[in-house]
Amino acid sequence: MEGPGDSSAWKALLEHSELFKHKDFRLNKLFRAEDGRFESKSISHENLLLDYSKNYLNQDTLPLLLGLARQQHVSEAIDAMFRGDKINTTEGRAALHVALRDPASADAHPEITDTLNKMEALVDDVHNGAWQGYTGEFITDVVNIGIGGSDLGPAMVCDALGSFASTAIRVHFVSNIDPAHLQNTLKNLKPETTLFIIASKSFSTLETLKNAESARLWLLQKAQSPAATARHFVAITSNLQAAVQFGIDEKNLFPLWDWVGGRFSLWSAIGLPIAILLGMDGFRQLLAGANSLDEHFRSAELSENMPVISALLSFWYREFFDAHSTATVPYSQRLNLFPSYLQQLYMESLGKSVSVRGEKIKSNTGEIVWGTAGSNGQHSYFQLLHQGTEFVPVDFIALVNNNDSDDIECQQYLLANCFSQSLALMEGKTDKEFVHKNVRGNKPSNTLLLSELNPYNLGKLLAFYEHKVYVLSVIWNINAFDQWGVELGKNLSGQIFAAMSGPTPESNLDDSTQGLIRKVHEWKSK
Ligand code: F6P
Repeated sequence: MEGPGDSSAWKALLEHSELFKHKDFRLNKLFRAEDGRFESKSISHENLLLDYSKNYLNQDTLPLLLGLARQQHVSEAIDAMFRGDKINTTEGRAALHVALRDPASADAHPEITDTLNKMEALVDDVHNGAWQGYTGEFITDVVNIGIGGSDLGPAMVCDALGSFASTAIRVHFVSNIDPAHLQNTLKNLKPETTLFIIASKSFSTLETLKNAESARLWLLQKAQSPAATARHFVAITSNLQAAVQFGIDEKNLFPLWDWVGGRFSLWSAIGLPIAILLGMDGFRQLLAGANSLDEHFRSAELSENMPVISALLSFWYREFFDAHSTATVPYSQRLNLFPSYLQQLYMESLGKSVSVRGEKIKSNTGEIVWGTAGSNGQHSYFQLLHQGTEFVPVDFIALVNNNDSDDIECQQYLLANCFSQSLALMEGKTDKEFVHKNVRGNKPSNTLLLSELNPYNLGKLLAFYEHKVYVLSVIWNINAFDQWGVELGKNLSGQIFAAMSGPTPESNLDDSTQGLIRKVHEWKSK
C-alpha cells in the first residue's frame, strides 16, 4: 500500500480544499449554515468529549476524509495492531502496548500479569516499610533514572496525578546527562532512604547508564558495602543480562518486552514510579482508562472514532493547508509536561520520510507538536497564533473540575480563557482604524473536555493520542514504531567525546566542531 499522495481520495481532497482557501471563506459561517453543529461535530466516550466543530469541515469534507481512511486501510490496520501483527515492520515486531492494559490479554501474555503482580509486591513493600534501605530505614524518596519513553510518560503522569498520591514517598525523575540534573536531585536526599529505579529498555542509553553509575557511587560512598546496591536499586529493562552485570539483584529486575515501544511503555513496568506514587489501584485505574479508549478505538465506526477523526483533521491541515506544526495547550497546570510527552510520541513516531516499503514519501509527514499549559501560553506564543503568518491548528485540553482546589471562580476563569481562545482563533476581529489590531481569525481548533483529571480519565487521554499517532502513520504508510534516526547522533557523540579528551581535536572533524572543541579547551575552568 502506498502513501496517500496522487490517489483518487487525495485528489478529491485537494480539489475540495480550495473551498476553504477562498478569500470569502469564514469558519464561523459554517455554524450559521448548520444548526446543531456542536452536536454533529463532537464525539463523547464516557466523560471525554472531542469537540471538532471549529474545523474546516462542511457536509462533504468528512466523507472525503473517511474515503481516504478507507483507501489507506485504517480499519484493517487497527485490527492488525490489536491482533499483534508485526506492524513495526523494520524491526519485525508487534506493537502491543494495548495488551499491557487489557485484562483479556492475560491468557496470551501471562508475563504481563506476573509483572503487574511483581510491581504490586514492590509497591506494597515500599509503602508499608517492608522494603528498607541498608540501615533498616524506610524508603522516603524514589528516583527514576531514565530518558525518552523511560522518563517522559511516567514523569508527566506523576505530575498530572499528584493529587491522587497514596503515599508521602516523594518520586523524582532524572534524565539528562547534565550532571546538574542528578546532583540537584540528590543534594536533598539521603542515601539510606532513597530507592533508585533504572528505567532503560536497552540498558545501553548513555545518559541513563552514566546517571546510574553516579547514583550508585553516591550510595556506596555512604554505605561502603556493595551489598547495599540490592536494597537501593531496581531496574526495568529488556536487557536483563546488562542489568545484572551492572549489579542489580535479579529479584529486583522487571522485564520489558520488544513488542513495547519506548514511547508506548508507561503501561508496563516502566510505570513503576507511577504505581509507587498512586498505589497499585491507581495504576490499574490508569490502565483501565486506556483500555476503555482502546475498546472505543477498536470498535467505533470510523466516522464516530475519536482518534481516527482527530488524525484525519491533522492530516487535512498538514497535507492541504501547509500546517507545519500543531499546538497542544492543556488548560491545566498539572498537564504542563503533557506537550513534552506528546513531542516524543508524535515526532519519534511520525518523523519519517520513507514508507514502510522504503519508498520516499511524497507528502509532508510528521506533525511538529509544541505547547505548554494554558492560560500561560496566552502570555507567550498566542500572539503568533492570532496574528502570525503561520497556520497552526490548536488542540485545547480542558478539565471541568479541579482536584487541587475548591476555587471554582478561578477554575471558571481558566475554562473561560480556554474557550475564549478557541473562539478568538475562529472569529478574529477587524479593526478598520488600526490595522495592527486586526486578527484574521479562521483558525481551526479542537477542544478535548474531561470531567476531571483522574487516573482513569488520563489513561483515556493518553490512549487517544497514541491511537491518533498510529492512524496518522497508517495514512502516511510509515512505521510509527521505530526510530532509526536517533542512532547517528548517539554514535557521533562517542567520536566527539574522544576528540575532546585529547589536547587537540582530531583533524578529520569539520572545522566548526574543531573550533568549538578548541574553545572548550581554552575556556574550561575544571
Ligand atoms: O530516543 C531514542 C530512544 O531509544 C527512545 O525511543 C527511548 O524511549 C529512549 O531512547 C530511551 O531508551 P532506553 O529505554 O532503551 O534507555
